[in-house]
Amino acid sequence: MKHILISLSPSGGTKKVVDKVAETLTKSDQNVLKLDLYRNVNLEAIADTVNGEKEKCLWFFTPVYADHPLPQIMDIITSLRTQKTYDSNKTFAVIIASWGGVSSGLALYDMYNELRSKNIPVLGASKVLAEHSSMWKSPKPLNQHKPDKNDLGKIHTLTYIVLDKLSNPPVQGIDFSVLDYQTDKMKKEAEQKNLEITKQILPPKIADKTKCTLCGKCIEICPVFALEYNPYPKANSNCILCNNCVKVCPENAFAYDHKRTEERIYQMAKDSDEPKTTAIFT
Ligand SMILES: Cc1cc2nc3c(=O)[nH]c(=O)nc-3n(C[C@H](O)[C@H](O)[C@H](O)COP(=O)(O)O)c2cc1C
Ligand code: SF4
Ligand code: SF4
Repeated sequence: MKHILISLSPSGGTKKVVDKVAETLTKSDQNVLKLDLYRNVNLEAIADTVNGEKEKCLWFFTPVYADHPLPQIMDIITSLRTQKTYDSNKTFAVIIASWGGVSSGLALYDMYNELRSKNIPVLGASKVLAEHSSMWKSPKPLNQHKPDKNDLGKIHTLTYIVLDKLSNPPVQGIDFSVLDYQTDKMKKEAEQKNLEITKQILPPKIADKTKCTLCGKCIEICPVFALEYNPYPKANSNCILCNNCVKVCPENAFAYDHKRTEERIYQMAKDSDEPKTTAIFT
């Protein structure tokens, strides 16, 4: 059985979770392959690698963006080959979403449903509380320094539970009802949100030509190769709004209203009735 860890972590929070799972699996003498999608957009090649493996446990790691998983992670799940039956016992999955304490939205639901449609049992899931990556200038970002030892301890436990399931056939996937933790109000709100809608609300990532020195730092750091010189850096439709370009620019050439963003995020977190904890679902 090969464990394939598929992730995209623009700001590094999700990566801490990936590393914990990898460490736990390696210590248990498991065969581990990490597929990091950061600046690695050959989704076809990645899908081929994943589909080419016969017996596998696929671990999907995504941050929650606008209440859903990142499109790149969903694209990989969508490109998976469908198992003949749900009980084929060849391909399994584990789904993990890191969220910034506003709402984990429908991230786990979306991944679960797509995997279920491919007859791939989900053996476990987790929503991991992490520092909100849009608040890097804030003196007190939501969930500062998270995920911490305690959160990663839960991930360690989840990994052992999955290994235990795999070594005790028949292997049972979790039921969808386990992930049905959002209130109707939150579900309805989450259904109306997504990255494309957010992109229409926020200013596009276009460098201010009066500030930009064409140093190229933003282009080099963009996780999804969305920035192009046009003639100054400008994001194309692949942009996921991670703000890495804003963070790295030495000239502050990208517009970003820190104060307003901080206020908006604090308000949304206050309005959300989701408990602000890391949870595992087995
Ligand atoms: C564009 C954008 C949208 C986000 N949307 C949400 C959200 O809907 N709910 C939430 O709790 N956190 C949200 N976050 C915060 C991230 O989910 C959280 O910080 C995550 O840990 C980032 O992962 P990373 O550090 O691996 O990039 C968002 C962050 C960004 C940049
Ligand atoms: S253009 Fe900027 S905000 Fe958009 S994905 Fe690239 S680094 Fe992130
Ligand atoms: S990092 Fe800033 S200054 Fe450098 S190319 Fe990008 S926008 Fe221009």
